Amino acid sequence: MATVGSRSRREFLDTAWRWVAAAGAALAPLGVLGILSRAGGRPREIVLDPGILERAAREGGVAVEGVYVRVRDGVPDVLSLRCRHLGCRVRPDPARGGFECPCHGSRYGLDGRVHSGPARSDLLRPAVRRSGDRWIVELGADDD
Ligand code: FES
Repeated sequence: MATVGSRSRREFLDTAWRWVAAAGAALAPLGVLGILSRAGGRPREIVLDPGILERAAREGGVAVEGVYVRVRDGVPDVLSLRCRHLGCRVRPDPARGGFECPCHGSRYGLDGRVHSGPARSDLLRPAVRRSGDRWIVELGADDD
């Protein structure tokens, strides 16, 4: 009787351990995805070198690493390209002017103001600071 009971307990523990291991193996990728998805929301910086600013001035504006850069009086004027609806990356629309979101069609003016939804807020304007001959764009978690 004791043998049957201990075997049963051992079988139970083996089975339970297998279930725990299987559940851990199944859920591990979700944890990795969660970490990767949060990594995109961390503050980060973009360095604008003189070449980028020259190109932005010459072409009227350039998209760089998720922001749109124009130059006004030698100073970068930067807009985040993250749509204020659900976060898709908006793209410049040279034909109509401004920016358009490919996901649900929100439109923004060249100044980043929302013209039509579903987005309700203007594009964000990240902080910019000078560092020698470069400019540093400081993206917050919501700018990127
Ligand atoms: S994410 Fe841009 S309109 Fe929905």
